[in-house]
Amino acid sequence: MTAKVEIEFTLNGRPRRVTVPADMSTLTLLREELGLTGSKLACGEGECGACTILVDGVSQNACLMFAVDCAGRDLLTIEGLRTEDALHPMQRAFVDHGAIQCGFCMPGMIMQAKYLADTTPGLTREGMRRGLEGNVCRCTGYKKVFDAVADAAGIDG
Ligand code: FES
Ligand code: FES
Repeated sequence: MTAKVEIEFTLNGRPRRVTVPADMSTLTLLREELGLTGSKLACGEGECGACTILVDGVSQNACLMFAVDCAGRDLLTIEGLRTEDALHPMQRAFVDHGAIQCGFCMPGMIMQAKYLADTTPGLTREGMRRGLEGNVCRCTGYKKVFDAVADAAGIDG
């Protein structure tokens, strides 16, 4: 039987305490135990970016991170991005540019875009493209996605 571990961490600004099996992924914890289904399960192998969240401000594939490793960390998921009154500017830009089709990849794409915008001074369009390479979209063709991120991140050209 898999051992269970009690952990405490911060999730979208709120302290959480949960008991998890030692082999559970953070993505399973979020989706199946805590009901936060914005982060998506697609490849489950760190290849598609659909599960991207921020951990201590750094983007991570939640499918590759053990839930027990959330202990003491600060997690932000797509559900925690907007305020009570408004979408986050990155979310707003995706809507305004019509960058969303089926939407499946979008929570991970937006979290990665926010990470890039927050942590890359002087972010260029090329840097943005490279930074989003790990986030796969099967619908959009990326042009509107790149336009939205460039808009929200203040990239010229
Ligand atoms: Fe995590 Fe694809 S589901 S990277
Ligand atoms: Fe459908 Fe990206 S909008 S996979």
